[in-house]
Amino acid sequence: MRILSIFGTRPEGIKMAPLVQMLAAQEDFESRVCVTGQHREMLDQVLDVFGIVPDHDLSIMRPNQTLTTIMTAVLEGLQGVIADEKPDYVLVHGDTTTSMAAAMAAFYARVPVGHVEAGLRTGNMDSPWPEEMNRCVVDRISSLLFAPTASSRQNLLSESIDNSRIAVTGNTVIDALHIASQKVKEPALRASFEKKFAGFDSSRRLILVTAHRRESFGEGIVNIASALKRLAQRDDVEIVYPVHPNPNIKRPVEEALSGLRNVHLIEPLDYLPFVYLMDRAHMILTDSGGVQEEAPALGKPVLVMRDTTERPEAVAAGTVAIVGTSAQAIYANTTRILDDAALYGRFARAQNPYGDGKACARIVAALRQGAIAPEAQFMPATSFKVAAE
Ligand code: UD1
Ligand code: UDP
Repeated sequence: MRILSIFGTRPEGIKMAPLVQMLAAQEDFESRVCVTGQHREMLDQVLDVFGIVPDHDLSIMRPNQTLTTIMTAVLEGLQGVIADEKPDYVLVHGDTTTSMAAAMAAFYARVPVGHVEAGLRTGNMDSPWPEEMNRCVVDRISSLLFAPTASSRQNLLSESIDNSRIAVTGNTVIDALHIASQKVKEPALRASFEKKFAGFDSSRRLILVTAHRRESFGEGIVNIASALKRLAQRDDVEIVYPVHPNPNIKRPVEEALSGLRNVHLIEPLDYLPFVYLMDRAHMILTDSGGVQEEAPALGKPVLVMRDTTERPEAVAAGTVAIVGTSAQAIYANTTRILDDAALYGRFARAQNPYGDGKACARIVAALRQGAIAPEAQFMPATSFKVAAE
């Protein structure tokens, strides 16, 4: 069976990489990879970490690109690739414009689509924007839907998607995190990261920050930066923020936070040093989807600087809280966790509601069947736990 995996951004790369590796190792599959290059540097480092050499690269990224230009460039670029490759299935991942445009391109070519990380919903088209709509479109088009959790499957069922097309697999991000955690334990690599980050004062508590959502451009990101500035007045914290290269994020963040003694604005990190830093962090402030899934597995408290989340499982497990984008709420909630040891302890219990590291194997098995048998359904309960790394 010939599978064409299409992805284009950093998180898609991280979450598709272990699946692409596994597909390539199967004798009865021919695995082909097309990257759109919606992200350039941030995607290339992921390809390097996992040793993936794409068969096609559309190289579409432009500075400050718009959703319209991404959509049209991916659709146009994929037309020829899909015609040449003639895949039995196209696989796409998650919520990005690459994913939505790739699913449309496959639909126009009458090639069935498998959606990895299907069924995530907030129910709010404005948040995350435009990812909520991207997910709805991809799920509607897909023939096979790989839902990471029981609640994401429930979301699909409530939209009348047939149960026989849905497999609950766990999230491939945990497969990727297992691979990365093993690598990060290697003494030579660990020593190199300790050296790389020797400038961070280890006598202070490290707060790791990421923020890049489109719905936070403007006021949201200004508020986030202002909360961080206020937090930096404490002398017991060291704030480390790998800044997304989008100019709508980079400019306001640098304006507010450059030059502060205990705030380190750094380039986006490669995946392995980022996993190392998540592990070293005392707590994490983020609006990322992937980080919300990884940090609970590492036992790190997470405050989500968004108004909604499509990942309610870790909130229910008590390791993640949604705090919105008001500067006061971000500051007050972070301070509470920093100053209340019992509260910190409750947030810091390692939980793993998103996977057990075997999601890729379940996806491969479901692809092999071509349809999803009831016995392939993975999780009967609403969540599951495995020991964290
Ligand atoms: C996109 C996805 C979002 C995903 C996020 C991960 C959509 C609509 N959004 O948002 O779902 O969570 O990626 O980060 O698909 N840039 C670079 N180098 C890079 C990457 C980005 O310079 O390697 C800059 C460019 O100026 C680019 C801009 O960032 O134009 C925005 O990138 P884009 O992919 O359009 O949006 P994201 O905010 O990254
Ligand atoms: N990540 C990374 N380097 C960084 C920040 C994040 O490798 O400097 C990883 C992180 O571990 C997670 C993924 O990137 O797996 C999340 O990507 P992002 O926040 O861009 O997108 P989202 O998850 O919100 O779609």
